Amino acid sequence: MFNELCCENKIYRNLVDGRWVDSKSNKYLEIHSPIDGTLVGKVPAMSQEEVDLVIKNSKAAQKAWNDVPVNKRAEVLYRAADILYERAEEIGSVLALEIAKDKKGAVSEVTRTADYIRFTADAAKAMEGDVLPGDSFPGYNRSKLSFVSRVPLGVVLAISPFNYPVNLSASKIAPAVAAGNSVILKPPTQGSISALFLAQIFKAAGLPDGVLNTVTGRGSEIGDYIVKHPNIDFINFTGSTEVGHHISEITAMKPVLLELGGKDAAIVLEDADLENAADNIVSGAFSYSGQRCTAVKRILVMDSVADKLVDLLKTRIQKLKIGDPREEGTVIVPLIDNRAADFVMELVEDAMEKGAKRIMGEKREGNIVEPMLFDNVTLDMRIAWEEPFGPILPIIRIKNMDEAIDIANRSEYGLQSSVFTKDIDKAFYIADKLEVGTVQVNNKTERGPDHFPFLGVKSSGMGTQGIRYSIEAMSRPKAVVLNFNRK
Ligand code: NAP
Ligand code: G3P
Repeated sequence: MFNELCCENKIYRNLVDGRWVDSKSNKYLEIHSPIDGTLVGKVPAMSQEEVDLVIKNSKAAQKAWNDVPVNKRAEVLYRAADILYERAEEIGSVLALEIAKDKKGAVSEVTRTADYIRFTADAAKAMEGDVLPGDSFPGYNRSKLSFVSRVPLGVVLAISPFNYPVNLSASKIAPAVAAGNSVILKPPTQGSISALFLAQIFKAAGLPDGVLNTVTGRGSEIGDYIVKHPNIDFINFTGSTEVGHHISEITAMKPVLLELGGKDAAIVLEDADLENAADNIVSGAFSYSGQRCTAVKRILVMDSVADKLVDLLKTRIQKLKIGDPREEGTVIVPLIDNRAADFVMELVEDAMEKGAKRIMGEKREGNIVEPMLFDNVTLDMRIAWEEPFGPILPIIRIKNMDEAIDIANRSEYGLQSSVFTKDIDKAFYIADKLEVGTVQVNNKTERGPDHFPFLGVKSSGMGTQGIRYSIEAMSRPKAVVLNFNRK
């Protein structure tokens, strides 16, 4: 099975119309591991001409796929989930090497994805339509019925980011194909190989030729061309706010769903269970070195309990294992590249210059950045507002709930927030006022369980994901109105 996708010299191929195809122009991108620079493989840098052929093929394949009953589409998804489970260790190892994700986290990304696909098949079969009588509207009698069902949008372009190349590709592909669309997957360049393995699994599960095609190549080179292509009917994008914003600007009338960056706050009140808050904040902020959209990216803590919380955080952060993600128990892994580490250190320098108190963590070696905690962070510091996508955590001390709400809402982002308190009234008071997609009470910010709605507001996104919500986002209502004579 491996050989069709990858051949000699670690050259990988794209899935186009059910076949594994080499680069026509013989142009390839080298993918090196962020761990030690070893060559993981090479993927085709597809040209505009190649992209045109893919889109043409996807358009044709969608027509036939639309005629396949949903119970048959679901069977393909169940098979894909089974194969993914069987190959979780193998694909987890590829992920660990390609994006430097800790091995346990990488395998769990794969099994979580299999669960996601299976749940999607269940959800697709459970979708229902509506029958609306006309006479509920003034002036109409009972001679009209509207039969409303959902139909696919056509060709969905799925663009995924480097931090979850398997999960955030599949969480677009599965609901899209369940709804009867065809999908073109443009994976992140760093993460392409893991995503191509995923495509291989959908093919092995019996997804018909052309219903899933892949396009590899740098987003900065082919991205604009593909997103603007007239035969792309919907764009489902996860990535940075900068690129998401750019896509929405250049695509005019094309419908898009955007999952973008975040600056999730953990608000800690005086009456919080501080041990629980510290456990959640540390795992929320530092797992995969903070390279998660939903990572805890700032703490807003009441001054009266701040010292105690800092001590609890410190003991926990000191225990985080730093180094090679392939070793058991590593949490702090090399960042995706040196540029990412440079950016993190820029934020650190700015904070230090403006008087932040460094509680712990100092060193950066290459793309490994030690976990860092900063206290007394003030609102003039970049670290208070920007998304580091790295293992650094600022603490902003607050005097009351309203100050926390004000600072939380002044962010350009609005993905999630946590509130730690034992007082349910306070939790709901704050939750009600926060401008975010989701508020977690007494838990870290996180996406799962994956059937919950997942969305960002403001610069964190547009549209809603989450299994049923994703199927709805990638389909539309179609109404057939029956007019009859009532005697
Ligand atoms: P990114 O640089 O924005 O890249 C995301 C994807 O967009 C990649 O596949 C990239 O391809 C592609 N791309 C780049 N330029 C493009 C263009 N002009 N047109 C079309 N596609 C283009 O983001 P990243 O660094 O991979 O991921 C980290 C960011 O994603 C963070 O900001 C994080 O918060 C966000 N994120 C958000 C969520 C969420 O659910 N809200 C989840 C995960 C991550 P190349 O790799 O080839 O450049
Ligand atoms: O950043 C990726 C997004 O899908 C969140 O997933 O589980 O890290 O909260 P999680």
